[in-house]
Amino acid sequence: MRLDRLIGNHSQYSQRSARLLIAEGRVQVNALLVRDARMEVDRFMMVSVDGVPLKPAVASHYLMLHKPAGYLSATSDPQHITVMALLPEPLRAALHIGGRLDRGSSGLLILTNDGLWSRRLTAPQIKIPKVYRVTTAEPISAETPERFAQGIYFAFEDLTTSPAQLERLGTHEARLTIFEGRYHQVKRMFHALGNRVLTLHRESMGDIVLDDRLQAGDFRPLSQTEIDSIG
Ligand code: URA
Repeated sequence: MRLDRLIGNHSQYSQRSARLLIAEGRVQVNALLVRDARMEVDRFMMVSVDGVPLKPAVASHYLMLHKPAGYLSATSDPQHITVMALLPEPLRAALHIGGRLDRGSSGLLILTNDGLWSRRLTAPQIKIPKVYRVTTAEPISAETPERFAQGIYFAFEDLTTSPAQLERLGTHEARLTIFEGRYHQVKRMFHALGNRVLTLHRESMGDIVLDDRLQAGDFRPLSQTEIDSIG
């Protein structure tokens, strides 16, 4: 939200007087003087007036998890074990998943408490490339790369998938890059060509690459460079 509005919501000052305070150079965001009342701020930023913090800044969390197959990408579920079971208890309540993987899929899963950031990661319009390693039940036909590049029509949503890139690695194995993350997208794309996905492993989302030092079930915080790469 805008800086003047945040001050209005979190102090005795009105939004109007907040604009005056800002113009007088009495407001700091993350310890830096700010003079633009329209600056966009979020709950992770520390805003102070005359050096006094308005509210405690919320700690932000950005994690990569090497999801093992068999864990559900959900925050809770009555039936199946979820990926939250792999994370420390105090973090669980705050986090949500930025781009789910099916229960049988493995690989890079991103968890955060920053909703604006995760929306940029997953919004189909932003077209962040997601790379998957896939094995299939049937041989991958020679026409598959071209068909995926043209886009596959999904009747249920009445849309055609964005051009995807398929690199055949073997008769039944490929690396697929897609630029959206629609429901069961990879499985449905192969299904549309009469094939079936047997295993699916996500290697990367944009510049965030699954760290090969992480065993299945392990996680680590994202680096600042990884966080900033989702602009
Ligand atoms: N597409 C799928 O079909 N499943 C996944 O888990 C991820 C992408």
